[in-house]
Amino acid sequence: MKVVLIPGDGIGKEISESVKKVSNALACPIEFLEYQAGAEYAKEHESLLQDGLMDAILENKVVIKGPTATPIGKGFRSINVQLRQECNTYQNIRPIQSIEGVKTRYENIDIVIFRENSEDLYLGVEYMCDNDTSHGIKIITRGATNRIVKAAFEYAKKNNRKKVTCVHKANIMKLTDGLFLEEFENVAKEYPEIESDAVIIDALCMKLVQDPTQFDVLVTENLYGDIISDLCAGLVGGLGFAPSVNAGDDVRIYEAVHGSAPDIAGKDLANPTAILLAFEMLLRDSGMEDSANRLKRAILETIKEGKVVTQDIGGNATCSAFVDAIIERLQTI
Ligand code: NAI
Repeated sequence: MKVVLIPGDGIGKEISESVKKVSNALACPIEFLEYQAGAEYAKEHESLLQDGLMDAILENKVVIKGPTATPIGKGFRSINVQLRQECNTYQNIRPIQSIEGVKTRYENIDIVIFRENSEDLYLGVEYMCDNDTSHGIKIITRGATNRIVKAAFEYAKKNNRKKVTCVHKANIMKLTDGLFLEEFENVAKEYPEIESDAVIIDALCMKLVQDPTQFDVLVTENLYGDIISDLCAGLVGGLGFAPSVNAGDDVRIYEAVHGSAPDIAGKDLANPTAILLAFEMLLRDSGMEDSANRLKRAILETIKEGKVVTQDIGGNATCSAFVDAIIERLQTI
């Protein structure tokens, strides 16, 4: 199969190299079609995306991407938001699992976040009324809510999950979040075999910090999903461990939750686990279950052993040495 590979900015180049190496070692029948996109590409070219990238995505449907940087408070709109909208990847699925060997306060965390990926404040409808007043429009529709909530329940059903929790702030945003909650309750009725409940976003944050093991599948709006994803990543050891997929009915874009990490870029220090776990999801969803299982075992065993791991896991290995250790272990599995 053909997979579009976008290395992206900052540590994206280092971690996407690890995907190619691992795929080779697994002898996956994958041909990577590499395209450039991001702030670094834009510096030397007139656009943010290399010519032909969108066509390649729409033709081949499966993408693995490194992080792309977005300027804060000015400049161009996020490439991620643009890609998610153009490819209609309305679900952002983010599994968060404890990893043995990574020191954290809790063990046995196993949460999957379903973040609505197509609307909310991320539509970027913002304007200045005058020099001192800015408006941002929050858009929540029943259709988009229905499809993300259904996706979360369908996932729960297929994967023997017990509970789906709606995360909202409908006590304050009575119309927008009120609609999200109402539609959640409508859809929940279609899945009586799965437990459902709802929690206000601020209370959720406290509960996640107190005992994250009480949560199973979370479904929420775009902005809340973005924020709680990083919180949950922190609970299992940091952003280096959180993979994700942006999925629509057609295109699937796999990536790490983290950004381009400019503070460590180019130093071969990045933890490649998140993008490798995203690649593992890609293999599983593409029918390469055996390779996915082998890769996951190799990653987990290398981390558990703790001899050759990156600094954020308490080791002193480079990104490339860590990937080589994973590949060496793959040969034994
Ligand atoms: P960030 O996720 O890049 O970095 C936050 C902190 O986590 C930094 O200290 C970084 O060194 C560390 N970190 C992140 N990934 C790591 C890894 N794999 N291994 C070890 N440490 C890691 O977030 P930040 O600094 O807020 O964003 C930087 C840029 O990335 C921004 O331009 C932002 O817009 C972009 N970004 C892109 C995303 C994407 O393409 N999906 C997602 C999030 C941010």
